[in-house]
Amino acid sequence: MIETIQWTDAGVVMIDQTRLPREERYVTCSTYEEVAEAIRTMVIRGAPAIGVAAAMGVALGVLRAGEEGLDAEFERICATLAGTRPTAVNLFWAIDRMKRRFAEWRGLGLEALKRKMVEEAKQVRLEDIAINEAIGRHGAAFIPDGGAVLTHCNAGALATAGYGTALGVIRAAVEAGKQVSVFADETRPFLQGARLTVWELQHDGIPATLITDNMAGHFLKSGRIGCVVVGADRIAANGDVANKIGTYSVAVLAKENAVPFYVAAPVSTLDLTLASGDEIPIEQRAAGEVTHVFGVPVAPEGTQVENPAFDVTPARYVTAIVTEQGVARAPYEESLRGMVESSLTTSGDGRKMGSSLRKEVVQF
Ligand code: MRU
Repeated sequence: MIETIQWTDAGVVMIDQTRLPREERYVTCSTYEEVAEAIRTMVIRGAPAIGVAAAMGVALGVLRAGEEGLDAEFERICATLAGTRPTAVNLFWAIDRMKRRFAEWRGLGLEALKRKMVEEAKQVRLEDIAINEAIGRHGAAFIPDGGAVLTHCNAGALATAGYGTALGVIRAAVEAGKQVSVFADETRPFLQGARLTVWELQHDGIPATLITDNMAGHFLKSGRIGCVVVGADRIAANGDVANKIGTYSVAVLAKENAVPFYVAAPVSTLDLTLASGDEIPIEQRAAGEVTHVFGVPVAPEGTQVENPAFDVTPARYVTAIVTEQGVARAPYEESLRGMVESSLTTSGDGRKMGSSLRKEVVQF
């Protein structure tokens, strides 16, 4: 399995996703500030992966802290990590989880607190892999045998602690014996599809065809695409889905051509505090990502640029949302609430886990 992120004695080790596929290089972050910088610069990216990175960043910060001023330092650590990227709610979910544990274990003494925070961060990583495998099991049935699946961005092992959400569904279908091929949108401007999805699928021997983003409509109309599967960065209570810029166009084109459009995401990507996708904060990234490709200018100097990193797909375009707790369908207010409720009784954020998911976690 591709190792996206790991806790080691030297620090948090991540595969550098800005270098792939040219170079398989690993970066070691030995301070929480370095973890924050890795998230900001997209050395690590993808909603679940940045959640795991944030949890490890918090643990690293506590590990390097002293007793004096610990509470203020902890606030600084959490605020720094929370300030990295605004859209993927998994980042905030992970920080909140670490905050709750800190409060719970604060009275145990510094050494015990440090040990437990590190264990918790490692547990967030392990749970993420198990969650993705469960998403895969729930979603595999939607993948047509002998058909092609279109995906956008990278919602694979690289975007998670392992296995992937959208690509996890595809992996599970392949593991179940289906013949599956993937059309990967290149995903301008950061090229997660071209650089990461194709690399990852090649790594696993799953046939992949790279297309540019503006070819998606052509292929959806051609009848060659059996379904679309994408990941998500934040899903509002009404089922509106924030995901990589360009996802909305794919969803509209899928509906126009009667191709099912599935979203695969863990319950930690649900943000039921937001009534609709209009409330999801959309990250604006640097103009240079649009005006330059690998440092080479592709637009005249001084070009005015907009670079929203995500868009929101209204729920009416979403055929179903596949989570580790099962498959949610419209009306999403009800079905998504059901996913959160069953997650609280079965996983309980890693505290009350008595379920089959707990067994899967323990097996790692
Ligand atoms: O800007 P990125 O690369 O972090 O955006 C990633 C995506 O939009 C993914 O599709 C999403 O996080 C789901 S990852 C399982």
